[in-house]
Amino acid sequence: MSAFLDAARPETFQAGTSRFRPAIHFTARDTWLNDPNGLVFHDGLYHLFYQNNPYGNVWGNMSWGHATSHDLLHWTEHPVAIACDETADIYSGSVVVDHGNTSGFGTADAPALVAIYTSAYKAASEHRGRQAQCLAHSTDAGMTWQKYDRNPVLTRDSAHFRDPKVFRYQGDHGACWVMVAVEAQHQKVVFYRSEDLKSWDFLSDFGPANADAGEWECPDLFPLAVDGDPDNIKWVLIVNVNPGAVAGGSGGQYFIGHFDGARFLPDAGSLVAPAGLASLPDPQAGAAALQQCLWLDWGRDCYASVSFSNTPDDRRIIIGWMNNWDYANELPTAPWRSSMTLAREVRLTAVNGSARLIQQPVLADPCAGEELPTARDQMNAGTFELRNSTLRLPDPVPGSAQVIEAEILAGSAERFDFRLFGSSDGSEGTILSYNTTSAHLTLDRRQSGNTCFHGKFASAESAPVDLEKGVLKLLIVVDHCSVEVFAQGGKTVLTDLIFPETENPENWLSAVGGSATILKLAVSSLT
Ligand code: FRU
Repeated sequence: MSAFLDAARPETFQAGTSRFRPAIHFTARDTWLNDPNGLVFHDGLYHLFYQNNPYGNVWGNMSWGHATSHDLLHWTEHPVAIACDETADIYSGSVVVDHGNTSGFGTADAPALVAIYTSAYKAASEHRGRQAQCLAHSTDAGMTWQKYDRNPVLTRDSAHFRDPKVFRYQGDHGACWVMVAVEAQHQKVVFYRSEDLKSWDFLSDFGPANADAGEWECPDLFPLAVDGDPDNIKWVLIVNVNPGAVAGGSGGQYFIGHFDGARFLPDAGSLVAPAGLASLPDPQAGAAALQQCLWLDWGRDCYASVSFSNTPDDRRIIIGWMNNWDYANELPTAPWRSSMTLAREVRLTAVNGSARLIQQPVLADPCAGEELPTARDQMNAGTFELRNSTLRLPDPVPGSAQVIEAEILAGSAERFDFRLFGSSDGSEGTILSYNTTSAHLTLDRRQSGNTCFHGKFASAESAPVDLEKGVLKLLIVVDHCSVEVFAQGGKTVLTDLIFPETENPENWLSAVGGSATILKLAVSSLT
């Protein structure tokens, strides 16, 4: 073990203090991170493990970093939980609370936390070149971990078998553990079952289907009631894809269907290309079909989203990695690099008769049930009209995130634009624009500040968004280096990183080519 890992490290950093360091998004203090791993709620704490390079701020030496939070907004970083060694890197996976002590790692009274992760074996291992699934357990509430001495517990002699997400499945004939993992280069999700987390039996596989231009990674599978109706349960299968997502590079798609304990059966309505887009003969048809797939996020920077296990009240909360493999290693931040998205609660709602995911950022303390616990109101305006005019909104507050809630009745305006983190001369800014003719919402970061650190960074992302009774509802969270947009109650989400350069950023809202009625405009800052 390295001196670095053994060295006593301060456990917290001051959020929002260094340039671009977000206030309410998790970053590691001075190292690299990618995928969220092992998201679990236990004993009043949310645990976020994550792909971490303990030795630097680019990808490598993959280990599981660790942070905890009471409210999913403020995080405390802890020492590395599961470290790589000379035989294997520790890739993505999940954590379960083994309440029934099926694994024997804990006791019935004091259940162990069990991590199921991928070992990416190195030359020094007899499993060299393979990826296989392994266990580690913790009997001190997630603070220290022991690798199982009989690892790996599941191998397919494959070099690309990874990212196990394990959950407890309750079927007609009893309960068992189900693992959802991927054969990444075959664009397949593979399903296994187990009684004790140690011995696994193959059930079935799913894929390729829909977006399949890149590797399939970090799957998740969970049931949700459509519009809260317990008699209408659908299963959501999340499949992250890199590259080949709708905005380019990495992104998360999902399928809606049924899981019968052995197989995932997608609803016909969630299958745009049942054998995968790559099987379509016409590339143009492929590009149109890509837009029809179900996307967790239409922006550039939301990848590897997976959900917490063991959450109170059966809430389904996901976190993604706020980055894109296209340029991830080159983001202009130091000493840390990369952050997570906000935690987002997901639900299913019927849209034109089909179940679709909606996402809401968790901005309230779920335990206290409070709204925006550390928020300060900057503006709260009622109904007024904007006619071919521009309104200055409250400025971003250094060290705080900003939450903007808007409800806009479209009227005759051709567009309404938010210019976020803009310079006073208008040359810089991130533009969130709704076009009433094309019914598309676009997040444009081409003039957002520093975009030149990578050729693929400057971009504009669009998603189809229908007005509802003529109204567009937006919830926008801006936090130093990111913009997350939740449109129409979270039916459509766009997440982009930005690296503003202006010293005194300003926010503006304009109605272009006509008038729009602002029904609600609330701005608050959040630390
Ligand atoms: C996704 C991913 C996973 C893998 C991990 C390695 O971003 O490629 O498939 O387990 O990152 O860091």
